[in-house]
Amino acid sequence: MSAPNSDFDPVEVAALQPAALERHVAEAVAAFATAADLESLAAARSAHLGDRSPIALARREIGALPPAAKAETGKRVNAARVEAQAAYDSRLEVLTAERDARVLAEQRVDVTMPVGRGRVGARHPLTLLSERVEDVFVGLGWQVAEGPEVEHEWFNFDALNFGGDHPARELQDTLAVGPEEAHLVLRTHTSPVQIRSLLTREPPVFVICPGRVYRADTLDATHLPVFRQVEGLAVDRGLTMAHLRGTLDAFAAEMFGPGLRTRLRANYFPFTEPSAEMDLQCFVCHGASALPGGEPCRTCSSEGWIEWGGCGMVHPNVLRAAGLDPEVYSGFAFGIGLDRTMMFRNGLVDLRDVLDGDVRFSLPYGAGLAGEV
Ligand code: PHE
Repeated sequence: MSAPNSDFDPVEVAALQPAALERHVAEAVAAFATAADLESLAAARSAHLGDRSPIALARREIGALPPAAKAETGKRVNAARVEAQAAYDSRLEVLTAERDARVLAEQRVDVTMPVGRGRVGARHPLTLLSERVEDVFVGLGWQVAEGPEVEHEWFNFDALNFGGDHPARELQDTLAVGPEEAHLVLRTHTSPVQIRSLLTREPPVFVICPGRVYRADTLDATHLPVFRQVEGLAVDRGLTMAHLRGTLDAFAAEMFGPGLRTRLRANYFPFTEPSAEMDLQCFVCHGASALPGGEPCRTCSSEGWIEWGGCGMVHPNVLRAAGLDPEVYSGFAFGIGLDRTMMFRNGLVDLRDVLDGDVRFSLPYGAGLAGEV
């Protein structure tokens, strides 16, 4: 650029000649039109509309023109710039729309697709039932006690007054653990926890002991080689069978509904004397053996009563084995099968379901049991 010169003819400045400007515009328009994406469009923009582009350079030359020439030349250069800018703008619009459409397509989310939502598990219905029994007794002021599942024979049999030749000791009923000299068995009932509780507590002892027990049974719809029992034990001065009856009636009412009674039938267990079989008044027909419409009651097989467990007054030999004087202390004990309880309480048909671990089994029972608590 040089100083203003009144003789200067703008036509002589090569960059300002109409043909040159037209060519710059044509090149700019072509470059924008062929830009395939926003990046190449940006590059074309700085080449054809940027500070060092031919059109920008031409514009700078205007300042050096004689005043008479400035207006006309300025208009042409401006028109050239506007035309190139318009070509750029329209291409930008097209390419931006294309990019937006592509991004939308790429990031499309099908809201109807199934989601990988983590399934919630369920607590096992037997665990819930066991806790319900515990709650009933804790509510009466009892404590929860536990013992090992691999048990010494002394706790499982001897201390419970089983004779050396009692058939329960036979391998066909009881699962031994390790060599015979170890005298270890998988406990066949929760009664050994009676002894453990009496050895670790001072009377009065009121404990409820839920747990797994094992028997050499073949698995079928009504037998499990491993099942659950709940044991109750009360030892104090002056306890009688009336206390046992009262406790069992309270237990039955809490578990199955107010007013339901229990019934005792004479039986034999080595560790209780007298011993009894405990029946529960049917909670469906309430002992009527039939439903109001006259149909037979299926829950109790029209018996009016359901066998629920064993019970009795703690045998003096058991108290002695635990170091207690039977002249001073007396007590009662009972044991129920939890799996069996669930069979008649919840209409469980096949006991194998409780071992399968299928959450579809646990969910509805879980909901039902939890809802009742
Ligand atoms: N342990 C007995 C059984 O497994 C049940 C029972 C417990 C009986 C307590 C009397 C007292 O069959």
